[in-house]
Amino acid sequence: MYFKWKDEYCTGIEAIDNQHRHLMEIGSKIFDLAYADDGCDHYDEIMEVLGELKDYTVYHFGYEEELMVRYGYERYEPHKFQHFFLTKKIEKFEEEKQEIDDRQKDTILKLAEFLSDWVTNHILKEDMLYKDFFKSKGM
Ligand SMILES: [Fe+2]
Ligand SMILES: [Fe+2]
Repeated sequence: MYFKWKDEYCTGIEAIDNQHRHLMEIGSKIFDLAYADDGCDHYDEIMEVLGELKDYTVYHFGYEEELMVRYGYERYEPHKFQHFFLTKKIEKFEEEKQEIDDRQKDTILKLAEFLSDWVTNHILKEDMLYKDFFKSKGM
């Protein structure tokens, strides 16, 4: 199941947990549209939600990075690099839009699956590392 919220994703920092939840809500809309059994082609809507997912991801990454700078988090650079990697990956995908038009849904779904795996893995491995640090700063 992609973009499905699990309790283990909780950092205990409310603003961040809410943002992670919202990210997953947007992401799961892609799969709802792709697998909608209504005989309609939802390609344009899927691309729109993908854009929404990208914008919110960029917002969320910026939010985390701003906190890291504010509190002097020691893993700021490697964490920021992971965010940068994903943002570039999405941008590259957008540049190859012609290919997307040709192969349509399969390509989008592959990207959405990749994003889901990446985001959940990033939350569990990298975001969890700042949990205690931010809590100690009163977050
Ligand atoms: Fe995050
Ligand atoms: Fe992060």
